[in-house]
This record gives sequence, structure tokens and C-alpha cells, in this order.
Amino acid sequence: MSNRQKRLKAEIAWHGGRVPRGSAALATVRQILNSRLFFDVKRHKYAYSLTNDCLKVVLRERTKDGDLILVCPSGHGRDYDVIPHTVHTFGVDIAESAVKDSSRNYPQVAHSAGDALSLPYVSDVFDIILCNLFLHHVVDDGWKPYLNEFRRVLKPGGYLIVQEPSVFYPISWVTWPLRMLLRAVFRSEVVGHVPHEHPINTSELARTMVNAGFLQVESQGSSWVHNRLYLPVARAVARYQHVLSHVPFIKHTAWMVILVARKAR
Ligand SMILES: C[S@@+](CC[C@H](N)C(=O)[O-])C[C@H]1O[C@@H](n2cnc3c(N)ncnc32)[C@H](O)[C@@H]1O
Repeated sequence: MSNRQKRLKAEIAWHGGRVPRGSAALATVRQILNSRLFFDVKRHKYAYSLTNDCLKVVLRERTKDGDLILVCPSGHGRDYDVIPHTVHTFGVDIAESAVKDSSRNYPQVAHSAGDALSLPYVSDVFDIILCNLFLHHVVDDGWKPYLNEFRRVLKPGGYLIVQEPSVFYPISWVTWPLRMLLRAVFRSEVVGHVPHEHPINTSELARTMVNAGFLQVESQGSSWVHNRLYLPVARAVARYQHVLSHVPFIKHTAWMVILVARKAR
């Protein structure tokens, strides 16, 4: 089995919740990290509501009624909440179980199971592709083959909208070494990541988009509110973060960064 096949297997297993169980010590560490001290559903929902609000605005500014939008990958379908209701939505994901679940929950969306490297669509067909939280899973493959495939299925003048976690976000400087340390000790992921995913250099991704032939690559920080931040802190950050969203370089220190790239007409 090639390394890529192993990574795809891990992605598909993640949907089935098949995380290796590990030792009693690992279970204890997981319990601590998922306790109220470090995690809370309210904080998690609040953080993602901020990134979703930002994505909604970016999408609304670029869609027209009747547009065809591809959500790739679609996962369990939570990205559909940010898509305007006046467009036709398509979703594709490698994990058949996820496609099955989201087909049931979002019957208005045309779903397919497939690989983002060889999308099951003809060329020049979509007005917009939304690719949320995916490219940081495929750093080992290189981004260019995926960007080329997205460009193939976009119409001339169509937009690729990407959101990814940034390696420049200061909290990552603590969580990333901690994750590596725990992984080395327990020989396993501790909080439900797939092993090959990690925050990325979003500025480098913007340059790769240009190299892949996209025009007008724009970026903005979508939120500095990490999903484990205490709500009072999170709310304070949320109130002022808009002043940073478009500042050169500083925008790449956000927890999540949105990049918008346009295919030439
Ligand atoms: C973090 S999830 C993001 C899904 C969705 N955008 C969301 O935010 O819920 C990553 C997704 O990528 C899918 N995936 C991984 N490799 C893929 C590939 N080569 N082609 C299509 N989907 C893939 C996984 O099955 C998983 O659903």
C-alpha cells in the first residue's frame, strides 16, 4: 500500500470514529484534554460560528442566483450551512459513509463519492468551489495536483474559496509541540486528528495558487478565536479581531485563514 493509500485509509477510518484506543494512560490524557478545563461544546460551536460567519460573507459576495457550487470535500455536510439557498449545491468526499450520511441529511444536495484528485465532473462546470479544512490534510501529496483539478472543473472566471488553519497562529506554537510530544509518548494521536493533518503556511498556499495558474488570490484572517478558548476571552477577541483581518502578514496569524482564488476568464 502506498503512503497516499495509507493516508486515505486513515481519512476514511476517521469518519467511522475508528480511533485506535491505546493504553489506560492514553485514555486518561484524552479524558483530561476533553474535560471542561480544556474543551467545551459551547466554546467549540462559538469558534466555528465565527469562521462560518466569515465564510458566509465571502460566499455571498461572489455568488449569483442559480450558480453551481461544489463543496469538496463535503464530510458530514456541515459546510452546507454557509452556502446561500439560491444556488445548486454539489458535494463530493472520499468517504462513502460520510456521503451516505450527508445525502440523507441534505437531500437537496447532489452528492458523489470520489477523490478530489480526479473529480467525477466534466471540465469548466462550477461557478464556485468551497474547499474547507482540507488542504492541511494533503500537505504530503503537495497542493498543486489538487489545485489543478479544482481549476479544471471551475468555469472560466469561477472562484476557489479555501479555509485552512494557519501555522502562524500563536496558540498553535503551544498545541503543535504538545501534540507531537504526546504522539511520541503514546505512539498514537490523542485528540482525534488524522496523523498527517497539521496547520499550514497559508501564505505559501497563496503563492502555490498563483503558481497553479489562479489569478487574484486574496486572503484574510477569518478568526483568531481557537475552539478551546474560554468564552469570555473568545468574545473579547471576537469583538476586536476584524481590525487584523486584512493587515498584510498579520492576517496569516489567524487561527483560520480564508483564501479566494479566481480562474482566468
Ligand atoms: C476535516 S474534513 C473537512 C470536511 C468538510 N469540509 C468539513 O469541514 O466538515 C476532511 C475531509 O476530507 C475528506 N478527504 C480526505 N482526502 C480526500 C480526497 N483525496 N478526496 C476527497 N475527500 C477527501 C475526508 O473524508 C474528510 O471528510
